[in-house]
Amino acid sequence: MIIRNINLETVCGITSKLPENTLPEIAFAGKSNVGKSSLINALMNRKSYARISATPGKTQTINFYNINEALYLVDLPGYGYAKVSEQEKIKWGQLIERYLHGSKQLKVVFLLIDIRHKPSGNDKMMYEWIVSQGFHPVIIATKLDKIKRSQKDKQIKIVKEGLGVLPGTIVIPFSSVTKQGRDEIWELVERNYLN
Ligand code: GTP
Ligand code: MG
Repeated sequence: MIIRNINLETVCGITSKLPENTLPEIAFAGKSNVGKSSLINALMNRKSYARISATPGKTQTINFYNINEALYLVDLPGYGYAKVSEQEKIKWGQLIERYLHGSKQLKVVFLLIDIRHKPSGNDKMMYEWIVSQGFHPVIIATKLDKIKRSQKDKQIKIVKEGLGVLPGTIVIPFSSVTKQGRDEIWELVERNYLN
């Protein structure tokens, strides 16, 4: 994808009305700090258009990035961040649920999992929940640069088994440091999810 223009068009908090877009939407889910905003920056060829932080819980809203007036990349708030209150977690959960359930243009949900770790209970819940909403999530195994090349296959197996993925589920290893996997993600999106 050649990025001609990007625009953070809509930002939705827990009380916001969600947009009724007409362009296809591609969403990114995953626990706090897994690298959603970093991935979106890499896909947009920008260093820091989407806000990134070493502090988890940075993205607390649903952010819609309009790309080339052709599609939206949708940055979802991360789950599993210990420092927010229970009530806030419930509200974010409800916001994400409202979006996944209500969007008419959502074509695919990418679920990001840190390639170094076995998926958590929350990751598994999120996976099953996306599936129950009728989507077939694509898994992105993030922070590939943090492991040795020789560990890659084993870690991907751990991610797949940990989530209990459906047969045929695609797992794309990715690093926002080296940008490995970026072209593969765009190719997949362009081939399958843009009409
Ligand atoms: P929330 O907005 O809190 O949900 O987090 P997020 O999933 O958007 O994560 P974010 O992109 O902000 O990245 C969190 C931290 O991980 C930052 O310090 C990033 O620099 C780092 N990070 C993200 N992706 C990678 C990667 O591929 N490799 C390495 N080494 N670090 C990464
Ligand atoms: Mg973020």
